[in-house]
Amino acid sequence: MSTFQAPKGTYDLIPPRSAAFLAVREGLSAPLRRAGYGYIETPGFESVELFARGVGESTDIVTKEMYTLTTKGGDELALRPEGTASVLRAALEANLHKGGNLPVKLWYSGSYYRYERQQKGRYRHFSQVGAEAIGSEDPALDAELIILAADAYRALGLRDFRLLLNSLGDRACRPGYRATLQEFLRGLDLDEDTRARVEINPLRVLDDKRESVRRQLTGAPLMRDHLCAECAAYHRRVRSLLDAAGVVYEDDPRLVRGLDYYTRTTFEFVHDGLGSQSAIGGGGRYDGLSEMLGGPALPSVGWALGVDRTVLALEAEGVGTEVPDGTGVFAVPVGEEAREVLFGVVTALRREGVAADLAYGGKGLKNAMKSANRSGARYALILGERDLADGVAQLKDLGTGEQTPVPLDGAVTEVRAKLG
Ligand code: HAM
Repeated sequence: MSTFQAPKGTYDLIPPRSAAFLAVREGLSAPLRRAGYGYIETPGFESVELFARGVGESTDIVTKEMYTLTTKGGDELALRPEGTASVLRAALEANLHKGGNLPVKLWYSGSYYRYERQQKGRYRHFSQVGAEAIGSEDPALDAELIILAADAYRALGLRDFRLLLNSLGDRACRPGYRATLQEFLRGLDLDEDTRARVEINPLRVLDDKRESVRRQLTGAPLMRDHLCAECAAYHRRVRSLLDAAGVVYEDDPRLVRGLDYYTRTTFEFVHDGLGSQSAIGGGGRYDGLSEMLGGPALPSVGWALGVDRTVLALEAEGVGTEVPDGTGVFAVPVGEEAREVLFGVVTALRREGVAADLAYGGKGLKNAMKSANRSGARYALILGERDLADGVAQLKDLGTGEQTPVPLDGAVTEVRAKLG
């Protein structure tokens, strides 16, 4: 081991496990590409102010978990703790919403940073695949996104996950509910921090995991009993579309998300094999965010799925991921001249789309064959001095051990045909 280690709360993705991450990223994003979402990439850092306004001044994410820095030029920046504020900022900046084609559907994949207490499934650097549908208020869009996420998890082979669904109301009905909830909470026996939270962000108190608090929350007023007629009708539409698609959900009237921008539909996917960090993905509608960022009214909905936790969930269920593009053929040269010839064959194979590798570092036959076996390749292409003189190479099936000579000048065609 060297003197250096990965920073606390982070870890390195290393083969072979890293292949599962690639497969999960691909599996979570492929359905979005088939559903009209275009790829967007934004910087890894943004102005602190964007997240303070977007995610919410009083959220844990903004008050405790942001990695902030002041540049030499005096700019206050933060490593992005989430993607929605950035994506909306970029869409507004590029005037995507003015193209006359709403909703603007975007997907993204990347690294996010939160200074959290490290725990299994909770990291300071993690990966998300996300999707945002910007600029229309349509329950079918909420349903589309939820269905795409549920289907993506299923297609990866995940089974033991549940979908929790709630509505957080809108600017018509939430303020009244908030006041009612505050009144209820002020009557409870709470510590100072929690009492402060009641004044700033009372909905978050519903999410308190401590038994002493939970006990007192039975009988707390719930948003679902205070939804205005429009929000209630909207929520019914989302539910019936999910029902029709055969997507099972549980109503969770206490589901409060850790970000302040949500309105109406909110949801979370949880996996039962992960312990306390069970949320493998989440999202919802955020109809007021654009205006909070100084843009026009653009009702929107989106989600982000956690790549790290999805990998953990697959491992917990013992589900393997298909790993494409493993080495098909591994070249084993014996001697200097063979090395040069096979290097050329491997290059040609790769150019023809065959996954090929070579024993590097001047290894002898025995060691080179060990590498071939470890590579997981189906075939070894062996070239010794005698073969070279005969103009052939030996193609060895590493599964059966069967070995057949193939003409050197036709090796590429032959190997390609064999690997189908
Ligand atoms: P979020 O619930 O904060 O939502 O994060 C989404 C997912 O990212 C979580 O369900 C979890 O799987 C993963 N995740 C979050 N924090 C960590 C962590 N510290 N370590 C490992 N995984 C983590 C958002 O970020 C919203 N931007 C989602 C959204 C998009 N809402 C609307 N559009």
